[in-house]
Amino acid sequence: MTAASAWDDVDRYFHQHLIGDDPALDGALQRAAVAGLPAHDVAPNQGKLLYLLARMCGARRVLELGTLAGYSTIWLARAATEVVSLELVPEHAAVAGENLRAAGLADRVTILTGDAVEGLATLEEPFDLVFLDADKQRNPEYLEHALRLTRPGGVIVADNVVRDGAVVDASSDDPRVTGVRRFTEALGAAAGVTATAVQTVGSKGWDGFVLALVEGAERQAR
Ligand code: SAH
Ligand code: DHB
Ligand code: MG
Repeated sequence: MTAASAWDDVDRYFHQHLIGDDPALDGALQRAAVAGLPAHDVAPNQGKLLYLLARMCGARRVLELGTLAGYSTIWLARAATEVVSLELVPEHAAVAGENLRAAGLADRVTILTGDAVEGLATLEEPFDLVFLDADKQRNPEYLEHALRLTRPGGVIVADNVVRDGAVVDASSDDPRVTGVRRFTEALGAAAGVTATAVQTVGSKGWDGFVLALVEGAERQAR
């Protein structure tokens, strides 16, 4: 058994016992495939992790950068009362809109079509959870907005921070890698936020998340 197929088997096992069948999510992936969208959605267990994190921090307002077909958006919208999701490509936003309607979640989600930096400039705090999953080269800029928009006690999650281990290549000229490295280093140096990163393997290969907690005033004073 190759490592990658064992990762798939383990994902399937936990999916079967802890997540189960989910017609809305299956339908979303099917519509995305039919529309020819890239299969860059989070894996089911990662989507449920987003859902759990949102519930664990009592999230009501969630901000997402990078909607694609709305797969992660569905998970987040099930946990929260309001999701704002920013998506550059109108065809992606259209499929996501259809998927959210089919999932019965359209009334909780606002998709802002256009460049995330432009959308971000129009948004005001407080968000309880921010999920960064758009163009990774711009993560350093997105971090500044996320820190501005997340309430104390809120959570910032960034996807695709490992990319088959490329994150440790200090000489990489891939802007996604340099973007994630600058993001990570800025996050580590930022005041008022504490973070970690977790590597993942599974049906989406070898990748990982950054998880960050924005500190409340009491902690910052200690
Ligand atoms: N969060 C989704 C996957 C997002 S894939 C999920 O897990 O289901 C990344 C998305 O970011 C793509 O749809 C891409 O079009 C979008 N994107 C890329 N650059 C962007 C930008 N500058 N502003 C907003 N969205 C962007
Ligand atoms: C890519 C983007 C993603 O958000 C993801 O989860 C996987 C891959 C990409 O642009 O290659
Ligand atoms: Mg991603």
